Amino acid sequence: MMYENIDFNSIDLTQEPPVSEPERQYYFIAKCRQYVKEQEELAGHPLTAAVVTFGCQMNARDSEKLSGILEQVGYTLSDSEEADFVIYNTCTVRDNANQRVYGRLGFCNSMKRKNPHKKIALCGCMMQEQNVIDKLKKSYRFVDLIFGTHNIFKFAELLCRMFESSGMVIDIWKDSDQIVEDLPVERKYPFKSGINIMFGCNNFCTYCIVPYVRGREKSRRPKEILQEIERLADDGVVEIMLLGQNVNSYGKNLENPVTFAELLREVNKIEGLKRIRFMTSHPKDLSDDLILAMKECDKVCKHMHLPLQSGSSRILKIMNRHYDKEQYLEIVRKLRDAIPDIALTTDIIVGFPGETEEDFMETMDVVKQVEYDSAFTFIYSKRTGTPAASMENQCDPDEVKRHFDMLLKEVQQISTRKAMELEGKVVEVLAEEPNEQDASLITGRLANNAVVHFPGDAGMIGKLYQVKLTECKGFYYLGEVVANE
Ligand code: SAH
Ligand code: SF4
Ligand code: F3S
Repeated sequence: MMYENIDFNSIDLTQEPPVSEPERQYYFIAKCRQYVKEQEELAGHPLTAAVVTFGCQMNARDSEKLSGILEQVGYTLSDSEEADFVIYNTCTVRDNANQRVYGRLGFCNSMKRKNPHKKIALCGCMMQEQNVIDKLKKSYRFVDLIFGTHNIFKFAELLCRMFESSGMVIDIWKDSDQIVEDLPVERKYPFKSGINIMFGCNNFCTYCIVPYVRGREKSRRPKEILQEIERLADDGVVEIMLLGQNVNSYGKNLENPVTFAELLREVNKIEGLKRIRFMTSHPKDLSDDLILAMKECDKVCKHMHLPLQSGSSRILKIMNRHYDKEQYLEIVRKLRDAIPDIALTTDIIVGFPGETEEDFMETMDVVKQVEYDSAFTFIYSKRTGTPAASMENQCDPDEVKRHFDMLLKEVQQISTRKAMELEGKVVEVLAEEPNEQDASLITGRLANNAVVHFPGDAGMIGKLYQVKLTECKGFYYLGEVVANE
């Protein structure tokens, strides 16, 4: 039974909660509705809730699940941290993501003094770290609810516990092999959506904390994924992004193994869908069949995000990436041979322990050879518990900064040059939102994910247009519609 068909008000709360999922959460949604109603009477106004998201697309998708529950239990969703209930969905991939959360919490505490009914919750990747929990317990006692990445499906149940308890409720699981389907989701956009195809990561790149906070790799069954996408397409979604830390290893551990390329071909058949994206591809598992599937599937955007991390084979080995510079370049060659106009984007880390001038120049060399359409560049951030954190040869911060600036300059010059190549061309664009600065403009995206602003109105949102890119502004374009699709 799908949650849309559930009548939560008819659930008998005098009974014990069911043991099986998702029925158990349906029960707690019903129970929570009563608590929210009571609180509303106390407060004298409808209760609002805000979900504040840090981190990657996977966290953004989790936030839609949190919003779905909040809406079902009776909150009105809001974007403001002044809301009666604020939940921070945290990220800990780099220390700055982590620090920002503490900053927001301080601010929230001052608001809580003004609004005694205000509740504050924390969840997401940061909560899977023991040192974070210790710190919160010691210095952030005003937080009402804390949970992690593995029990997010129990959000309704945890909310109930929060309402029933006077102190801080903390529930963190070390790991889980459970995937609970069919819980409410509230999509941020009506016309596009992320879809989890897998959770967790098994790769243990030596700098990265994700495998520790997200647990082992688990794939959803193709049937569940396809059904979810079909439902979304019926509901007007035209673009989807298939999400996983390493989509190229999708399906390997299923009872009936399926490859990512096979899944892509199935998704491509879904009627109503116009665009398919995916993130992230690990170069070590990128198969020839995936390249072929991308080429053959008309709905798959000709865009590959292929994190390089470093161009030095020596550093790549210590990073535990399982490919070297030559293998990476070979994949790029194959992709471009098969799909000449493919857009390539990447992630690069500067200042991994022991990185020398020579290693860095190897990264610069790959950047120059590949000519990425865009690249995310990061300064290495030491994450407690990862192998790289205890390496003794951490880099000199001034050197790292110098390299980072050099890389950023190169990357930007190349992206601008690449972006210029499309000026004057007519491309397919999905109209996504009204322009924030100028109400006569609509903002849309090209297949390669670049942004274009063009004259239009809100009625165009969610539809595809042929747009002439009249002017390239470096990171974005100005354009005009030449035809509807
Ligand atoms: N699963 C994806 C990456 C997820 S994290 C993949 O393997 O490509 C997103 C990016 O953050 C990574 O690609 C990496 O470039 C960066 N990153 C991860 N850990 C980092 C760290 N400790 N310091 C700096 N950047 C890091
Ligand atoms: Fe982190 Fe590597 Fe897993 Fe990506 S593949 S999430 S970088 S461990
Ligand atoms: Fe951050 Fe967790 Fe994503 S650490 S990058 S939110 S998986």
